[in-house]
Formats: sequence, C-alpha cells, structure tokens
Amino acid sequence: MLISGKGGTGKTTVAALLALTLAERGYNVLTLDADSVPNLAASLGVPPDVAESIVPLAKNEELAEERTGVRPGEGWGLLFSLTPKVDDIAERYGIKVRDNLKLVVVGSIDASKEGCMCPAIALAKAFLLHTVMKSRDVVIVDSEAGAEVFGRGLAEKFDFNLTVSEPTVKSLRIAGKLMRMAKELGILKNVLVVNKVRDNLRAMQLIANALRNNQLHTHLIRWDDNVVKAEEEGRPLTTLPRNSPVREDVFHLTLKLESLHKRPA
Ligand SMILES: Nc1ncnc2c1ncn2[C@@H]1O[C@H](COP(=O)(O)OP(=O)(O)O)[C@@H](O)[C@H]1O
Ligand SMILES: [Mg+2]
Repeated sequence: MLISGKGGTGKTTVAALLALTLAERGYNVLTLDADSVPNLAASLGVPPDVAESIVPLAKNEELAEERTGVRPGEGWGLLFSLTPKVDDIAERYGIKVRDNLKLVVVGSIDASKEGCMCPAIALAKAFLLHTVMKSRDVVIVDSEAGAEVFGRGLAEKFDFNLTVSEPTVKSLRIAGKLMRMAKELGILKNVLVVNKVRDNLRAMQLIANALRNNQLHTHLIRWDDNVVKAEEEGRPLTTLPRNSPVREDVFHLTLKLESLHKRPA
C-alpha cells in the first residue's frame, strides 16, 4: 500500500494510524518511510534517541558497499550489483514498534534529488521491490510526492495507492494528477483520502467539482484538534484518545480497504 500526496496533507499521520490500526487488528505490518525527511518513527512512538540514530537505507553507504560491492562515489560506473541481498534487511534493520509492527527507514529513493548516492539508492530500491513483491502481509510506504519516484516495475507491485489531499480545490487537483499517474504506472486500486475535513458536505461538493470522477473511491478524515495538540506537545499518535475523530475515521478506512482488497479491481 502506497501513501502518496503533496507535503503537509497528512500522509505520515494517515500512514502511522493505518499501521497502528491494522496491527491492532492482527495483521503483520511493515511500514517503510521513503520520505527525504523521515518522521514516521516519531509518529509511531519510537523513542527520540532511537529515531535519531537511524541511518536511512538510501543513505547507508556502508551497507550499500557490503551488498553491492561498491563504495558510493568510487567510480562505480555500471559495475555494481543490481541484485544485492536484501531479504534480511527488514529483520536486521527494522525497528520493532510492536510485536507485529515494524519500521524500516528507507529515505528518499529519488536519485535526482539526493545527488550521487547511487549504490545506496539502488539498494533501497531493490529492498522496496523485494519487500512489496514477496510480502504476504501489509506493507505501508509513506512517500513524499507521488508514485513517479517508484516508476514502472515498482509502482505496479502495490495493491493500493492512497492519495492524501486536503479539502481544497488546489490540493484536490494535485491529488487527481497523482492518482492518474499512479493508475498509469499500473496501480489498480486507488483511494482518495481527504484529510482535515471540517465540513463533510462541503468537502464532498469540492471533490465532485474538482475531480468529476464518480468512480473514485473516496474516504474522508475529519480535522482533529487532538492531532494538533499531540503535534504541539511532541507526542506520538499512539497517545491519541481512542474516540478521537482521526482514529475513528482511520478505523473505518481500514474496513473499506479490507473490503476493496477482496474485490477484483
Ligand atoms: N486530521 C487532522 N487534523 C488536524 N491536523 C492534522 C490532521 N492530519 C494531519 N494533521 C497535521 O497536519 C500536519 C501535516 O501532517 P503530516 O502527516 O506530517 O503530513 P505529510 O506527511 O503529508 O507531510 C501535521 O502538523 C499534522 O499534525
Ligand atoms: Mg510526511
């Protein structure tokens, strides 16, 4: 499951709450943070000292050297292994948040943005591909921007793309573009998650006007002052009250995803 969307819309919030909810429902959940500024760990309640000591996979030159045979920046040309060993990475480098909830901080796999760190990025991509293809459990990827960084080959391995948007015309149009892109790249099930909703009816009108696509799977998540307060106080989302609006709305999102998963695309 890929979580896409413009910065600030609530991708990390949704990814973290989905992960926690699915883990509570008994799934084995692996969360992957593919943002260039990873912050999923903090949302999931990983202690700050642990979170700060994590080296993202896409920046882990030592591991890349070990697995691809090349030190970054050392005239590697085309000679590094494109099939590095990655099957043990989640086991060895994953942070255990709960018994059935793990996190691997991948970092950004967008080589054009990250400068020349190609062996590490190749390793991170190989890991993502392997994980998304092989895993029978739930894998949630919190990624900045859209599916385009994943490209063909990787994108189409996702069962779901969840594009997160705010209830504004501008944000919804961007979300519409990202969803078209995800579809073109081969992701069959796309869900528009409209977050920070203060007025459901108004949000539905905006969605209808901005997107004009009545086949769209849409899910609304309410604005929640508990999230603002947690953010202000530096508390993880695990501290939100059980009856807080975002938790209820994400719970219903998991039910929707479960039922969509059983249906053919
Ligand atoms: N439903 C919501 N109600 C209120 N604030 C929210 C909600 N969802 C997210 N936020 C806040 O919006 C900001 C951006 O959320 P975040 O999940 O970090 O976005 P992204 O990962 O897309 O950049 C954060 O300050 C977060 O606390
Ligand atoms: Mg984020």
